Amino acid sequence: MKDKIKVLFICLGNICRSPAAKGAFQNLVKQKNLESKFVIDSCGTSGYHDGELPDPRTRKVALKRGIQLTHRSRKLKPSDFDEFDYLLVMDDNNFREVISLIKEETIKNKVFKFASFRTDDGPDIVPDPYYGTEKDFESVQNLVEDCSDGFLKYLGV
Ligand code: 4NP
Repeated sequence: MKDKIKVLFICLGNICRSPAAKGAFQNLVKQKNLESKFVIDSCGTSGYHDGELPDPRTRKVALKRGIQLTHRSRKLKPSDFDEFDYLLVMDDNNFREVISLIKEETIKNKVFKFASFRTDDGPDIVPDPYYGTEKDFESVQNLVEDCSDGFLKYLGV
């Protein structure tokens, strides 16, 4: 659908942060009855966890907010750069990696750090919780929900 806003959330493994961001943004869009206006997906810069469901800790924390995550991990692919309008990365490593794969300046302009849309003045990254505790996963969930609010406001839809 040409008129839809196509949003791709990107992290490293596509089992923690970007599926959490996808779920949070989808949930927000649903609450606002804006589902028909969006295509929302997520992927990883690596294919380490190809085909896997999100990490059990990511799923548990999302489910506590009423969000069921059924995404299957996939690696970022070249066609994503044409397909999507917004490429929302989680940290500086993701940013560098994604930018390094893009040749055209107009496509580089589609890449944003998702946490640059947070509504407080904290750092503009979503930190990797993979080697952390459940508390770190809760923090990621809180942050991606806040960034979702900020991003939707930025879009002005
Ligand atoms: P994510 O977290 O990038 O937020 O999905 C990670 C998941 C897996 C690995 C690293 C980060 N890993 O090295 O397997």
